[in-house]
Amino acid sequence: MKKMTDQKVSMQETIAGWNDRFKTSGPDEVLDFFCRRYPNRIAFSTSLGAEDQVIMDLLAKTGIPVKVFTLDTGRLFPETYDTIDKTSQHYGIPIHVFFPDRENIENMVNTKGINLFYESLENRKLCCHLRKIEPLNRALSGMEAWITGIRKDQTLSRFETNLVEWDESHGLVKINPLYKWTDKLVWDYIRQYNVPYNPLHDKGFPSIGCQPCTRAVKPGDDIRSGRWWWEDQGPKECGLHRQEG
Ligand code: ADX
Ligand code: SF4
Repeated sequence: MKKMTDQKVSMQETIAGWNDRFKTSGPDEVLDFFCRRYPNRIAFSTSLGAEDQVIMDLLAKTGIPVKVFTLDTGRLFPETYDTIDKTSQHYGIPIHVFFPDRENIENMVNTKGINLFYESLENRKLCCHLRKIEPLNRALSGMEAWITGIRKDQTLSRFETNLVEWDESHGLVKINPLYKWTDKLVWDYIRQYNVPYNPLHDKGFPSIGCQPCTRAVKPGDDIRSGRWWWEDQGPKECGLHRQEG
């Protein structure tokens, strides 16, 4: 028991050291370091959103093979499926697709309805759990490090995001190379390097999740206000990054 605690303390110290070391580094340097640090044990989760496309471009430039995966909830926009294909072909990098468990989804839908998420928060969390969290857990199993595209200023609940974090629920190191980037920096990068992106971004969708749970927003609106729009304004999380989601 003591050993576990010591290991945990030492991991926290290592992470604090990395955050200090890389505090003025660009995401390219960060990715290069962690891809070499965890060969075959690092995975990048992409929703094909703007931030993830920047990371994909940076990863391709490092030339180091990394497991890239996406969670197909079964309820994504057609544009997102096209973007999976287009991105994979553009970079010549396979994007591994994880699906939810068929039996779980059949049980859920046949007892609670195909669009159960509009009925209650409990239903919405159940759907997110079965369609996203469970496949995420499988995708990350055996990994020691996880790269995501989350940014501090996406929403209040992400304000505490750091470059490197310990993800207790998966027991791995979580790396957020764009944590300090603004929306403008993301889009400047996409334009400068002709990075392919989901065409929904040009139609009022700054943040793209599942089709029935995402709608377009007006210019100037909160970038996540189109996600689960029928719910009270709150953290707007599905549980991928906050377990209580
Ligand atoms: S969510 O929790 O609200 O859905 P968001 O859309 O902001 O997340 O994306 C934040 C990060 O979570 C992405 O950069 C990506 O790393 C991961 N992510 C979100 N959705 C998916 C998905 N469907 N497949 C893989 N990764 C995802
Ligand atoms: Fe289900 Fe909506 Fe969550 Fe997608 S975002 S998993 S459709 S509740």
